[in-house]
Amino acid sequence: MKTIIEPFRIKVVEPIRLTTREEREEIIRRAGFNPFKIHSDDVLIDLLTDSGTGAMSALQWAGVMRADESYAGSASFYRLQEVLRELTGFEHILPTHQGRASERILFELIGGPDKVVPNNAHFDTTRANAEHSGARAVDLPVSEALDPRNRHPFKGNLDLKRLESLLGEVGVARVPLVMCTVTSNASGGQPVSLENLRGIREICDRFGVPFFLDACRFAENAWFIKQREPGQSDRSPREIAREMFDLADGATISAKKDGLVNIGGLLLMRDEDLFRRASDLLILTEGYVTYGGLAGRDLEAMAQGFQEVLDEQYLRYRVRSAEYVGEKLLQAGVQIVEPPGGHAIYLDAGAFCQHLPREEFPGQALVVALYRHAGIRACEIGSVMFGGKDRPPPALELVRLAMPRRVYTQSHMDYVVEAIGELHQRRAEIRGLRLVEAPDTLRHFSARFEEN
Ligand code: F0G
Repeated sequence: MKTIIEPFRIKVVEPIRLTTREEREEIIRRAGFNPFKIHSDDVLIDLLTDSGTGAMSALQWAGVMRADESYAGSASFYRLQEVLRELTGFEHILPTHQGRASERILFELIGGPDKVVPNNAHFDTTRANAEHSGARAVDLPVSEALDPRNRHPFKGNLDLKRLESLLGEVGVARVPLVMCTVTSNASGGQPVSLENLRGIREICDRFGVPFFLDACRFAENAWFIKQREPGQSDRSPREIAREMFDLADGATISAKKDGLVNIGGLLLMRDEDLFRRASDLLILTEGYVTYGGLAGRDLEAMAQGFQEVLDEQYLRYRVRSAEYVGEKLLQAGVQIVEPPGGHAIYLDAGAFCQHLPREEFPGQALVVALYRHAGIRACEIGSVMFGGKDRPPPALELVRLAMPRRVYTQSHMDYVVEAIGELHQRRAEIRGLRLVEAPDTLRHFSARFEEN
Protein backbone atom coordinates (compact mmCIF):
# COMPACT_ATOMS: atom_id res chain seq x y z
CA MET A 1 0.00 0.00 0.00
CA LYS A 2 1.28 3.46 -0.88
CA THR A 3 -1.08 5.36 1.44
CA ILE A 4 0.39 6.03 4.86
CA ILE A 5 -2.47 6.40 7.31
CA GLU A 6 -2.49 8.19 10.67
CA PRO A 7 -1.46 5.26 12.93
CA PHE A 8 -4.07 6.01 15.59
CA ARG A 9 -7.81 6.28 16.13
CA ILE A 10 -9.33 9.40 17.65
CA LYS A 11 -11.04 8.99 21.03
CA VAL A 12 -11.55 12.59 22.12
CA VAL A 13 -12.36 15.49 19.79
CA GLU A 14 -12.29 19.25 20.11
CA PRO A 15 -14.54 21.36 17.88
CA ILE A 16 -12.95 23.96 15.62
CA ARG A 17 -14.88 27.24 15.52
CA LEU A 18 -15.25 28.53 11.99
CA THR A 19 -14.77 32.26 11.48
CA THR A 20 -15.53 34.58 8.57
CA ARG A 21 -12.97 36.66 6.74
CA GLU A 22 -14.55 39.83 8.17
CA GLU A 23 -14.18 38.52 11.72
CA ARG A 24 -10.56 37.60 11.09
CA GLU A 25 -9.84 41.02 9.62
CA GLU A 26 -10.90 42.60 12.92
CA ILE A 27 -9.14 39.95 15.07
CA ILE A 28 -5.73 40.30 13.41
CA ARG A 29 -5.95 44.09 13.56
CA ARG A 30 -6.75 43.99 17.29
CA ALA A 31 -3.80 41.60 17.78
CA GLY A 32 -1.39 44.19 16.38
CA PHE A 33 -0.78 41.89 13.40
CA ASN A 34 0.94 39.43 15.73
CA PRO A 35 -0.47 35.86 15.77
CA PHE A 36 0.81 35.26 19.33
CA LYS A 37 -1.88 37.70 20.48
CA ILE A 38 -4.81 35.93 18.85
CA HIS A 39 -7.09 33.81 21.06
CA SER A 40 -6.84 30.19 19.98
CA ASP A 41 -10.66 29.98 19.67
CA ASP A 42 -10.30 32.33 16.73
CA VAL A 43 -7.89 30.00 14.87
CA LEU A 44 -9.05 27.31 12.43
CA ILE A 45 -5.82 25.39 11.95
CA ASP A 46 -3.11 26.21 14.45
CA LEU A 47 0.37 25.71 13.02
CA LEU A 48 2.01 28.30 15.27
CA THR A 49 4.13 25.66 16.95
CA ASP A 50 4.60 21.93 17.45
CA SER A 51 5.58 22.65 21.05
CA GLY A 52 3.24 21.33 23.74
CA THR A 53 0.41 21.16 21.22
CA GLY A 54 0.39 17.41 20.58
CA ALA A 55 -2.28 14.90 21.56
CA MET A 56 -1.43 12.45 24.32
CA SER A 57 -2.14 8.73 23.97
CA ALA A 58 -4.55 6.63 26.04
CA LEU A 59 -1.53 5.19 27.89
CA GLN A 60 -0.24 8.66 28.71
CA TRP A 61 -3.62 9.66 30.13
CA ALA A 62 -3.67 6.43 32.12
CA GLY A 63 -0.25 7.46 33.47
CA VAL A 64 -1.70 10.80 34.52
CA MET A 65 -4.10 8.92 36.81
CA ARG A 66 -1.59 6.54 38.32
CA ALA A 67 1.06 9.24 38.91
CA ASP A 68 2.62 9.80 42.32
CA GLU A 69 2.38 13.42 43.50
CA SER A 70 4.87 13.12 46.36
CA TYR A 71 7.07 16.15 46.83
CA ALA A 72 10.28 14.14 47.14
CA GLY A 73 11.14 10.75 45.71
CA SER A 74 8.03 10.41 43.53
CA ALA A 75 7.69 6.98 41.92
CA SER A 76 6.84 8.79 38.69
CA PHE A 77 10.25 10.48 38.72
CA TYR A 78 12.01 7.15 39.11
CA ARG A 79 10.05 5.71 36.19
CA LEU A 80 11.05 8.70 34.06
CA GLN A 81 14.65 8.41 35.19
CA GLU A 82 14.78 4.75 34.20
CA VAL A 83 13.26 5.41 30.75
CA LEU A 84 15.68 8.26 30.07
CA ARG A 85 18.78 6.52 31.35
CA GLU A 86 18.03 3.64 29.03
CA LEU A 87 17.17 5.89 26.10
CA THR A 88 20.06 8.36 26.42
CA GLY A 89 22.72 6.71 28.58
CA PHE A 90 23.04 9.93 30.62
CA GLU A 91 23.48 9.26 34.32
CA HIS A 92 22.01 12.49 35.63
CA ILE A 93 18.41 13.35 34.80
CA LEU A 94 16.91 16.66 35.93
CA PRO A 95 13.28 17.43 35.06
CA THR A 96 12.42 21.07 34.34
CA HIS A 97 9.18 22.77 33.40
CA GLN A 98 10.31 23.22 29.78
CA GLY A 99 13.36 23.47 27.54
CA ARG A 100 14.21 27.08 28.29
CA ALA A 101 14.39 26.37 32.03
CA SER A 102 17.10 23.80 31.27
CA GLU A 103 18.85 26.37 29.08
CA ARG A 104 18.65 29.05 31.77
CA ILE A 105 20.24 26.75 34.36
CA LEU A 106 22.93 25.51 31.97
CA PHE A 107 23.92 28.98 30.77
CA GLU A 108 23.87 30.44 34.27
CA LEU A 109 26.47 27.80 35.16
CA ILE A 110 28.68 27.83 32.10
CA GLY A 111 27.89 31.09 30.26
CA GLY A 112 28.85 34.64 31.15
CA PRO A 113 30.44 37.72 29.60
CA ASP A 114 33.31 36.96 27.26
CA LYS A 115 32.06 33.42 26.61
CA VAL A 116 31.25 32.21 23.11
CA VAL A 117 28.69 29.46 22.44
CA PRO A 118 28.74 27.78 19.02
CA ASN A 119 25.70 25.88 17.71
CA ASN A 120 24.65 24.70 14.24
CA ALA A 121 21.79 27.20 14.65
CA HIS A 122 20.48 28.49 17.97
CA PHE A 123 16.74 28.59 18.28
CA ASP A 124 15.20 31.70 19.81
CA THR A 125 15.16 30.84 23.52
CA THR A 126 18.57 29.11 23.41
CA ARG A 127 20.11 32.18 21.84
CA ALA A 128 18.31 34.47 24.29
CA ASN A 129 19.44 32.45 27.33
CA ALA A 130 23.06 32.31 26.14
CA GLU A 131 22.99 36.06 25.50
CA HIS A 132 21.20 36.77 28.78
CA SER A 133 24.20 35.26 30.57
CA GLY A 134 26.43 37.72 28.69
CA ALA A 135 27.79 35.15 26.22
CA ARG A 136 27.92 35.50 22.45
CA ALA A 137 25.82 32.92 20.56
CA VAL A 138 27.40 31.95 17.24
CA ASP A 139 25.60 29.99 14.51
CA LEU A 140 27.72 27.72 12.35
CA PRO A 141 25.35 26.13 9.81
CA VAL A 142 26.71 24.47 6.68
CA SER A 143 26.39 26.72 3.63
CA GLU A 144 23.77 24.41 2.06
CA ALA A 145 21.36 25.48 4.83
CA LEU A 146 21.25 29.00 3.43
CA ASP A 147 19.80 27.97 0.06
CA PRO A 148 16.10 26.96 0.29
CA ARG A 149 16.36 25.04 -3.01
CA ASN A 150 19.36 22.94 -2.03
CA ARG A 151 18.17 19.36 -1.28
CA HIS A 152 21.21 18.26 0.74
CA PRO A 153 20.01 15.40 3.02
CA PHE A 154 21.53 16.89 6.20
CA LYS A 155 21.12 20.64 6.00
CA GLY A 156 21.09 20.80 9.80
CA ASN A 157 24.80 19.89 9.94
CA LEU A 158 27.24 22.10 11.77
CA ASP A 159 30.13 23.43 9.67
CA LEU A 160 33.09 21.56 11.19
CA LYS A 161 35.75 23.73 9.54
CA ARG A 162 34.17 26.88 10.93
CA LEU A 163 33.95 25.26 14.37
CA GLU A 164 37.65 24.45 14.31
CA SER A 165 38.59 27.97 13.25
CA LEU A 166 36.33 29.49 15.89
CA LEU A 167 37.89 27.37 18.64
CA GLY A 168 41.36 28.31 17.37
CA GLU A 169 40.48 32.01 17.17
CA VAL A 170 38.75 32.64 20.49
CA GLY A 171 40.56 29.93 22.48
CA VAL A 172 39.04 27.06 24.44
CA ALA A 173 38.95 29.01 27.68
CA ARG A 174 36.18 31.16 26.24
CA VAL A 175 34.10 28.32 24.76
CA PRO A 176 32.32 26.53 27.64
CA LEU A 177 30.64 24.04 25.31
CA VAL A 178 29.64 23.32 21.75
CA MET A 179 25.94 22.79 21.09
CA CYS A 180 24.16 21.11 18.23
CA THR A 181 20.39 21.34 17.70
CA VAL A 182 18.68 18.20 16.37
CA THR A 183 16.77 18.77 14.18
CA SER A 184 17.71 22.35 13.36
CA ASN A 185 14.60 24.39 14.00
CA ALA A 186 16.07 27.72 12.89
CA SER A 187 17.07 26.31 9.51
CA GLY A 188 14.03 24.44 8.30
CA GLY A 189 13.62 21.48 10.67
CA GLN A 190 16.57 19.87 8.89
CA PRO A 191 18.43 16.90 10.36
CA VAL A 192 22.03 16.48 11.48
CA SER A 193 23.88 13.33 10.36
CA LEU A 194 25.64 10.89 12.66
CA GLU A 195 28.79 11.57 10.67
CA ASN A 196 28.51 15.27 11.54
CA LEU A 197 27.87 14.55 15.23
CA ARG A 198 30.93 12.26 15.26
CA GLY A 199 32.93 15.09 13.67
CA ILE A 200 31.82 17.52 16.39
CA ARG A 201 32.75 14.95 19.07
CA GLU A 202 36.20 14.52 17.56
CA ILE A 203 36.85 18.28 17.50
CA CYS A 204 35.51 18.71 21.05
CA ASP A 205 37.81 15.90 22.26
CA ARG A 206 40.79 17.43 20.52
CA PHE A 207 40.14 20.86 22.06
CA GLY A 208 38.89 19.54 25.41
CA VAL A 209 35.46 21.22 25.18
CA PRO A 210 32.18 19.57 26.27
CA PHE A 211 29.52 18.83 23.67
CA PHE A 212 25.79 19.21 24.40
CA LEU A 213 22.80 18.43 22.23
CA ASP A 214 19.69 20.58 22.06
CA ALA A 215 17.69 17.40 21.55
CA CYS A 216 14.04 18.55 21.42
CA ARG A 217 13.41 16.65 18.18
CA PHE A 218 15.90 13.79 18.61
CA ALA A 219 13.46 11.09 17.40
CA GLU A 220 12.65 12.89 14.15
CA ASN A 221 16.39 13.39 13.64
CA ALA A 222 17.01 9.67 14.23
CA TRP A 223 14.31 8.81 11.67
CA PHE A 224 15.96 11.02 9.03
CA ILE A 225 19.30 9.34 9.75
CA LYS A 226 17.68 5.94 9.25
CA GLN A 227 16.18 7.07 5.93
CA ARG A 228 19.08 9.05 4.54
CA GLU A 229 22.46 8.14 6.01
CA PRO A 230 24.39 5.35 4.29
CA GLY A 231 24.58 2.19 6.42
CA GLN A 232 21.82 3.23 8.86
CA SER A 233 18.66 1.81 7.27
CA ASP A 234 18.69 -1.47 9.23
CA ARG A 235 19.03 0.14 12.65
CA SER A 236 16.06 1.07 14.81
CA PRO A 237 15.35 4.74 15.62
CA ARG A 238 16.09 3.85 19.25
CA GLU A 239 19.58 2.54 18.42
CA ILE A 240 20.33 5.59 16.31
CA ALA A 241 19.03 7.97 18.97
CA ARG A 242 21.22 6.23 21.54
CA GLU A 243 24.28 6.73 19.38
CA MET A 244 23.42 10.43 19.01
CA PHE A 245 23.26 10.79 22.81
CA ASP A 246 26.38 8.63 23.30
CA LEU A 247 28.34 11.18 21.28
CA ALA A 248 27.42 14.02 23.65
CA ASP A 249 28.25 14.98 27.24
CA GLY A 250 24.78 16.24 27.98
CA ALA A 251 21.57 17.61 26.52
CA THR A 252 18.85 20.15 27.02
CA ILE A 253 15.45 18.89 25.90
CA SER A 254 12.05 20.46 25.61
CA ALA A 255 9.78 17.45 26.15
CA LYS A 256 6.97 19.47 24.55
CA LYS A 257 8.22 18.23 21.20
CA ASP A 258 9.43 14.61 20.97
CA GLY A 259 8.48 13.91 24.60
CA LEU A 260 4.88 14.00 23.30
CA VAL A 261 3.66 16.01 26.28
CA ASN A 262 2.03 19.39 26.77
CA ILE A 263 4.58 20.58 29.31
CA GLY A 264 8.00 19.41 30.48
CA GLY A 265 11.72 19.63 29.91
CA LEU A 266 14.99 17.94 30.81
CA LEU A 267 18.57 18.74 31.59
CA LEU A 268 20.77 15.68 31.15
CA MET A 269 24.47 15.22 31.75
CA ARG A 270 27.27 12.87 32.70
CA ASP A 271 29.40 15.27 34.76
CA GLU A 272 28.88 14.83 38.50
CA ASP A 273 30.04 18.29 39.53
CA LEU A 274 27.94 20.10 36.92
CA PHE A 275 24.96 18.00 38.01
CA ARG A 276 25.40 19.06 41.63
CA ARG A 277 25.54 22.73 40.73
CA ALA A 278 22.59 22.41 38.33
CA SER A 279 20.57 20.67 41.06
CA ASP A 280 21.16 23.62 43.41
CA LEU A 281 19.90 26.08 40.82
CA LEU A 282 16.94 23.85 39.99
CA ILE A 283 15.88 23.81 43.63
CA LEU A 284 16.32 27.58 43.83
CA THR A 285 13.87 28.46 41.06
CA GLU A 286 12.14 25.37 39.67
CA GLY A 287 11.53 22.88 42.43
CA TYR A 288 13.03 19.84 44.08
CA VAL A 289 15.19 17.53 41.93
CA THR A 290 12.56 14.81 41.65
CA TYR A 291 9.92 17.08 40.09
CA GLY A 292 11.65 20.21 38.71
CA GLY A 293 8.55 22.41 38.55
CA LEU A 294 6.28 19.70 37.15
CA ALA A 295 3.50 17.64 38.65
CA GLY A 296 4.01 13.89 39.09
CA ARG A 297 1.44 13.35 36.33
CA ASP A 298 3.59 15.35 33.91
CA LEU A 299 6.59 13.14 34.70
CA GLU A 300 4.49 10.04 34.12
CA ALA A 301 3.21 11.32 30.76
CA MET A 302 6.79 12.11 29.75
CA ALA A 303 8.04 8.65 30.69
CA GLN A 304 5.42 7.14 28.36
CA GLY A 305 5.85 9.79 25.62
CA PHE A 306 9.59 9.28 25.28
CA GLN A 307 8.93 5.60 24.56
CA GLU A 308 6.05 6.08 22.10
CA VAL A 309 7.92 8.64 20.04
CA LEU A 310 10.44 6.07 18.83
CA ASP A 311 7.76 3.83 17.33
CA GLU A 312 8.61 3.38 13.64
CA GLN A 313 5.02 3.58 12.47
CA TYR A 314 4.57 6.85 14.29
CA LEU A 315 7.79 8.35 12.93
CA ARG A 316 7.03 7.24 9.38
CA TYR A 317 3.61 8.91 9.55
CA ARG A 318 5.01 11.97 11.28
CA VAL A 319 7.72 12.79 8.78
CA ARG A 320 5.57 11.75 5.82
CA SER A 321 2.78 14.16 6.78
CA ALA A 322 5.11 17.16 6.63
CA GLU A 323 6.58 15.86 3.37
CA TYR A 324 3.08 15.51 1.89
CA VAL A 325 2.34 19.19 2.53
CA GLY A 326 5.76 20.19 1.21
CA GLU A 327 5.35 18.24 -2.04
CA LYS A 328 1.89 19.68 -2.71
CA LEU A 329 3.11 23.22 -2.12
CA LEU A 330 6.05 22.75 -4.46
CA GLN A 331 3.64 21.41 -7.10
CA ALA A 332 1.59 24.60 -6.66
CA GLY A 333 4.70 26.66 -7.34
CA VAL A 334 5.25 27.73 -3.74
CA GLN A 335 8.91 27.77 -2.72
CA ILE A 336 9.59 26.04 0.59
CA VAL A 337 12.81 25.12 2.34
CA GLU A 338 13.68 21.90 0.56
CA PRO A 339 13.67 19.08 1.40
CA PRO A 340 10.65 19.26 3.75
CA GLY A 341 11.57 19.37 7.46
CA GLY A 342 10.55 16.92 10.17
CA HIS A 343 8.19 18.96 12.32
CA ALA A 344 7.30 21.75 9.94
CA ILE A 345 7.23 23.15 6.45
CA TYR A 346 8.99 26.46 6.05
CA LEU A 347 7.71 28.80 3.35
CA ASP A 348 10.31 30.97 1.67
CA ALA A 349 8.59 34.27 2.46
CA GLY A 350 11.26 36.25 0.62
CA ALA A 351 10.27 34.46 -2.59
CA PHE A 352 6.53 34.50 -1.79
CA CYS A 353 6.48 38.26 -1.12
CA GLN A 354 9.11 39.37 -3.61
CA HIS A 355 7.43 42.76 -3.80
CA LEU A 356 8.17 43.50 -0.13
CA PRO A 357 11.60 44.69 1.07
CA ARG A 358 12.97 43.10 4.26
CA GLU A 359 12.24 46.28 6.22
CA GLU A 360 8.54 45.55 5.65
CA PHE A 361 8.81 42.07 7.21
CA PRO A 362 7.74 39.79 4.34
CA GLY A 363 7.47 36.79 6.70
CA GLN A 364 5.18 38.53 9.16
CA ALA A 365 3.15 39.96 6.26
CA LEU A 366 2.65 36.42 4.92
CA VAL A 367 1.64 35.17 8.39
CA VAL A 368 -0.99 37.93 8.57
CA ALA A 369 -2.26 37.14 5.05
CA LEU A 370 -2.57 33.42 5.85
CA TYR A 371 -4.64 34.13 8.92
CA ARG A 372 -6.87 36.58 7.08
CA HIS A 373 -7.40 34.32 4.12
CA ALA A 374 -7.99 30.99 5.83
CA GLY A 375 -7.72 31.30 9.63
CA ILE A 376 -4.41 29.43 9.62
CA ARG A 377 -1.96 30.52 12.29
CA ALA A 378 1.74 30.25 11.39
CA CYS A 379 4.95 31.68 12.79
CA GLU A 380 7.49 34.05 11.28
CA ILE A 381 11.09 32.84 11.45
CA GLY A 382 12.96 35.76 9.99
CA SER A 383 13.71 39.40 10.74
CA VAL A 384 11.03 39.69 13.41
CA MET A 385 12.26 36.68 15.38
CA PHE A 386 15.99 37.06 14.89
CA GLY A 387 16.51 40.69 13.89
CA GLY A 388 16.49 43.72 16.15
CA LYS A 389 18.80 46.16 17.82
CA ASP A 390 22.50 45.37 17.18
CA ARG A 391 21.67 42.12 15.37
CA PRO A 392 22.34 41.36 11.74
CA PRO A 393 19.21 40.19 9.87
CA PRO A 394 18.98 36.41 9.49
CA ALA A 395 19.93 34.78 6.19
CA LEU A 396 16.35 33.91 5.24
CA GLU A 397 12.83 35.25 5.70
CA LEU A 398 10.76 32.17 6.49
CA VAL A 399 7.26 31.31 7.66
CA ARG A 400 6.97 28.08 9.59
CA LEU A 401 3.93 25.82 9.39
CA ALA A 402 4.62 23.66 12.45
CA MET A 403 2.65 20.42 12.74
CA PRO A 404 1.30 19.54 16.18
CA ARG A 405 1.84 15.81 16.83
CA ARG A 406 -1.14 13.46 16.31
CA VAL A 407 -3.61 16.39 16.09
CA TYR A 408 -4.54 17.17 12.49
CA THR A 409 -5.55 14.77 9.73
CA GLN A 410 -4.77 14.73 6.04
CA SER A 411 -7.90 16.73 5.18
CA HIS A 412 -6.79 19.52 7.50
CA MET A 413 -3.52 19.54 5.61
CA ASP A 414 -5.33 19.56 2.24
CA TYR A 415 -7.14 22.69 3.43
CA VAL A 416 -3.80 24.29 4.34
CA VAL A 417 -2.32 23.45 0.95
CA GLU A 418 -5.37 24.81 -0.90
CA ALA A 419 -5.35 28.04 1.13
CA ILE A 420 -1.66 28.70 0.53
CA GLY A 421 -2.05 27.92 -3.18
CA GLU A 422 -4.88 30.47 -3.45
CA LEU A 423 -2.93 33.06 -1.53
CA HIS A 424 0.06 32.49 -3.78
CA GLN A 425 -2.07 33.40 -6.83
CA ARG A 426 -2.88 36.72 -5.17
CA ARG A 427 0.47 37.32 -3.47
CA ALA A 428 0.97 40.77 -4.99
CA GLU A 429 -1.89 42.01 -2.77
CA ILE A 430 -0.03 41.15 0.47
CA ARG A 431 0.81 44.35 2.32
CA GLY A 432 4.02 45.14 4.18
CA LEU A 433 4.19 45.95 7.90
CA ARG A 434 6.02 48.39 10.13
CA LEU A 435 7.03 47.65 13.69
CA VAL A 436 5.49 50.01 16.23
CA GLU A 437 6.34 48.37 19.56
CA ALA A 438 8.78 45.61 20.61
CA PRO A 439 11.05 44.58 23.51
CA ASP A 440 14.80 44.02 22.91
CA THR A 441 14.79 40.25 23.39
CA LEU A 442 12.41 37.59 22.08
CA ARG A 443 10.47 40.37 20.44
CA HIS A 444 8.32 38.17 18.20
CA PHE A 445 6.20 37.13 21.20
CA SER A 446 4.94 40.62 21.96
CA ALA A 447 5.74 42.95 19.03
CA ARG A 448 2.95 45.08 17.54
CA PHE A 449 2.77 46.14 13.92
CA GLU A 450 0.78 48.41 11.64
CA GLU A 451 0.01 47.71 8.03
CA ASN A 452 1.51 49.86 5.26
N1 F0G B 1 15.35 24.44 21.54
C1 F0G B 1 14.67 24.33 20.39
C2 F0G B 1 15.37 23.81 19.18
C3 F0G B 1 13.31 24.68 20.34
O1 F0G B 1 12.65 24.54 19.21
C4 F0G B 1 12.69 25.18 21.51
C5 F0G B 1 11.29 25.59 21.50
C6 F0G B 1 13.43 25.26 22.69
C7 F0G B 1 14.77 24.89 22.66
C8 F0G B 1 12.84 25.78 23.98
O2 F0G B 1 11.95 24.87 24.52
O3 F0G B 1 9.73 26.04 24.47
O4 F0G B 1 10.13 24.08 25.96
O5 F0G B 1 11.17 26.25 26.46
N2 F0G B 1 10.67 25.80 20.45
C9 F0G B 1 9.26 26.12 20.33
C10 F0G B 1 8.95 26.31 18.88
C11 F0G B 1 8.79 27.21 21.20
O6 F0G B 1 7.87 26.83 18.56
O7 F0G B 1 9.74 25.89 18.04
P1 F0G B 1 10.68 25.34 25.40
